[in-house]
Amino acid sequence: MGAPPRVPLRPGCVSLIGAGPGDPDLLTRRAARRLEEADLVLYDALVDPEVLELAPSAQRVFVGKRAGRPAVRQEFINRLLVRAARRGGRVVRLKGGDPFVFGRGGEEALALVAAGVPFEIVPGVSSAIAAPALAGIPVTHRGTATAFVVVSGHSPEAYSAVLASLAPQSATLIVLMGLGAATDIATLLLERGWQADTPAAVLYGASTEASKGCTRSLGSLSQGIEETRNGAPGTIVIGDVVRMGALLGAEMARFAEEGDRTADRPGALAAR
Ligand SMILES: C[S@@+](CC[C@H](N)C(=O)[O-])C[C@H]1O[C@@H](n2cnc3c(N)ncnc32)[C@H](O)[C@@H]1O
Repeated sequence: MGAPPRVPLRPGCVSLIGAGPGDPDLLTRRAARRLEEADLVLYDALVDPEVLELAPSAQRVFVGKRAGRPAVRQEFINRLLVRAARRGGRVVRLKGGDPFVFGRGGEEALALVAAGVPFEIVPGVSSAIAAPALAGIPVTHRGTATAFVVVSGHSPEAYSAVLASLAPQSATLIVLMGLGAATDIATLLLERGWQADTPAAVLYGASTEASKGCTRSLGSLSQGIEETRNGAPGTIVIGDVVRMGALLGAEMARFAEEGDRTADRPGALAAR
């Protein structure tokens, strides 16, 4: 079976697109095509301006969270999407990472279904995968971890039950939106029997100019953690696979310094 034919975005349709972790180079080709075709692009914070330039003929509207200002309400965004599509626009909704990974893409898709507006999903490279990969951390390294679990650190309800259900050291744990909850998460895991010397990485702004990573142990996870680093978001990775970042991340950084473009902007890890 071959790939489905490449049909252009039709007027009156919405494309819910993942823009990847930040670097425009990590955008999918389908996402780039959709941007070229769009009449309207509704985009979130952390979308690189270079990505928006791929939509030269579109009206571009920021609907993300700006520091110090209240977020645009989800219902308002849903209404904008429906209205623009009903007017016959080719609408792109551009989100960081993947639209269905803690991105509220599901709510937008449901609103479109309820309004009878046709839509598609264009998956993106989630920061849950990209941040560890760019730091040289293989999340399911054979012999070290057989699974990885992604949780949101947004609120205890979002992670407590999942963390409590994990046998100690049984998986690599990846926490998005978790910098403010690092102490609570570490305490929960230690109470469950995770070893205090389990390595952890805090990875800020993966794939962007602001990329920075540091390692520590689970027992000292929250020490010196910054909720955002110069506006760059952060992802926490906990598990024995983090140790490999010291070698692989350093090698990737070395190649990048030598100008190897395939290893662009790695998140080299610094122990702190
Ligand atoms: C609202 S969630 C959206 C996740 C997104 N849908 C995805 O798949 O990556 C935002 C969180 O993703 C993580 N994140 C997004 N971009 C990142 C990046 N470039 N580096 C590290 N973490 C990032 C942070 O944990 C941030 O708080």
